[in-house]
Amino acid sequence: MEPRLILTVALLISATVTADYIRPLPRKTLQFPWDPKPSSYPQQVHISLAGEQHMRISWITDDKSSPSIVEYGTSPGRYDTAAQGESTFYNYMLYRSGKIHHTVIGPLEHNTVYFYRCGGQGLELQFKTPPSQFPITFAVAGDLGQTGWTKSTLDHIDQCKYDVHLLPGDLSYADYLQHRWDTFGNLVQPLASGRPWMVTQGNHEKESILLLKDGFASYNARWKMPFEESGSSSNLYYSFEVAGVHIIMLGSYADYDEHSDQYRWLKDDLSKVDRRRTPWLLVLFHVPWYNSNKAHQGEGNKMMAAMEPLLYAASVDIVLAGHVHAYERVKRVNNGKSDPCGAVHITIGDGGNSEGLAHKYMNPQPEWSVFREASFGHGELKIVNSTHAFWSWHRNDDDEPVKSDQIWITSLVSSECIAQNRHELRKILMAP
Ligand SMILES: [Fe+2]
Repeated sequence: MEPRLILTVALLISATVTADYIRPLPRKTLQFPWDPKPSSYPQQVHISLAGEQHMRISWITDDKSSPSIVEYGTSPGRYDTAAQGESTFYNYMLYRSGKIHHTVIGPLEHNTVYFYRCGGQGLELQFKTPPSQFPITFAVAGDLGQTGWTKSTLDHIDQCKYDVHLLPGDLSYADYLQHRWDTFGNLVQPLASGRPWMVTQGNHEKESILLLKDGFASYNARWKMPFEESGSSSNLYYSFEVAGVHIIMLGSYADYDEHSDQYRWLKDDLSKVDRRRTPWLLVLFHVPWYNSNKAHQGEGNKMMAAMEPLLYAASVDIVLAGHVHAYERVKRVNNGKSDPCGAVHITIGDGGNSEGLAHKYMNPQPEWSVFREASFGHGELKIVNSTHAFWSWHRNDDDEPVKSDQIWITSLVSSECIAQNRHELRKILMAP
């Protein structure tokens, strides 16, 4: 038999869900030709929400004297407002980063296109602010990396109409090679400079070296998220609110036991959630708690034991995770089994990194697992109103964004769950 045919047959035999789907092969890491720019030219521009009606603009220049200024306005080429920000840099062994600028701008109008320029020069860019109320659409893709499949995923996301990108960890797969953070920053700029990218950390962000380097130095310097704005003391966990949705980004790689800073912050954050203002409650972290793939099996158990009772009592609607390079959607679950007051868990670590897909599954499929498939792709979550949201997963099938899984999700606000769990939530929040 021809090798390609043998491979195809093998892939079909190992397929667990969609027997008619031929899984594509991994793609190589992209090569980025040397593209010299003036040292003060703003590169790797990305934006993130930074508190009510504010946006953080982040970029890097080789020139250390370049100003952290952003000029912006609602008409092309006319910047009637400017803001001054802060800057940082880091050293990593022999690598020295460029000047990393973070400038918060606002207050901004909702659902409005802004034109902006970083550092007083370079290209004019534009972004759209999210709406103030429903509907709002989130694009979701984790474990991105920088391969041909990453490019395919980003191209598909670019075709969809969305307001905010959510990334549950593992961004660049730089894996200690710091210049790969720079190539990743330039790869995602066309999307990340136009819509806020809200990210949380994965294991590939850690890059610690025993006795030499603490973890997350590059990630924290480059991908500053609104942790200060949300009362957190760490960039590894924070929250934000947008158009009736409260979103909590947790850290799978920060301490999470009940005496940890993260747990204390989470309790404090949940105590401020008002489901009349934000009917939807979403949580993201990297290592999935409900995963029937053999890859990373059981890795999330400790964090789940520590935090699931609190998230359950708080009536979280949806949990999005990554880490496993495949897609899986799970029923509303709690304590290891389906539960109508638990969260819908979705693993979406299939952005396209170089490590390839995780295609070995536990059998029989657990009762809580609804749909699982090892393919690259992305998700879209359209929250239509306070009670209904439409989730769809789009695999990168032959470079076409095929809608492969879809479901309407009803919020817990429209159920008895919040009233039912109110006493338990208060008990956990009040505990010392
Ligand atoms: Fe990971």
